[in-house]
Amino acid sequence: MKSQFGKVVAVALFMAVAGQVQAGAVDTLQQEYKAAGAGPFNAAKGQQMWTEKHKDAESGKEFSCQTCHGDDLKKSGKHEKTGKIIDPLAPSVNKERLTDIKFINKWFLRNCKQVLGRECTPQEKGDFLEYLKGL
Ligand code: HEC
Repeated sequence: MKSQFGKVVAVALFMAVAGQVQAGAVDTLQQEYKAAGAGPFNAAKGQQMWTEKHKDAESGKEFSCQTCHGDDLKKSGKHEKTGKIIDPLAPSVNKERLTDIKFINKWFLRNCKQVLGRECTPQEKGDFLEYLKGL
């Protein structure tokens, strides 16, 4: 009886730890955004922002997130300027996506400035992640 109980506790602990590992970068970031007053997050809104075009003040060119990442996030995209191939963004076909907080932050910063001409708000970043994590 005693060892049975021990097993149950061990399994429960294991599941809790595994759950945390799985929670990963997206959950951590969305928690941060919530702590900053954002949320709840909406995948449809993220998708809409993803395709929205914004005119670049300097070049007059129109940019959206699709400009480099492409129309189908399960396929590779191509950098608008350098022509460099960008691996698919959808986590379902690219397991490395959305797993590294530093990497996500770095590219949110650059890409939001490129497309929107400013940093994204915590709400916007949360919505983008909500959309992307389901792909
Ligand atoms: C000028 C080209 C360009 C545009 C426009 C662009 N991106 Fe990116 N993005 C990149 C590149 C280059 C990388 C890093 C290389 C890679 O991930 O393969 C990247 C990486 C990312 C990542 C990191 C994903 C990961 O691996 O975890 C996110 C998130 C992201 N972009 C979101 C956005 C969003 C949101 C927009 C629109 C606001 C956007 N991008 C527009 C070029 C672009």
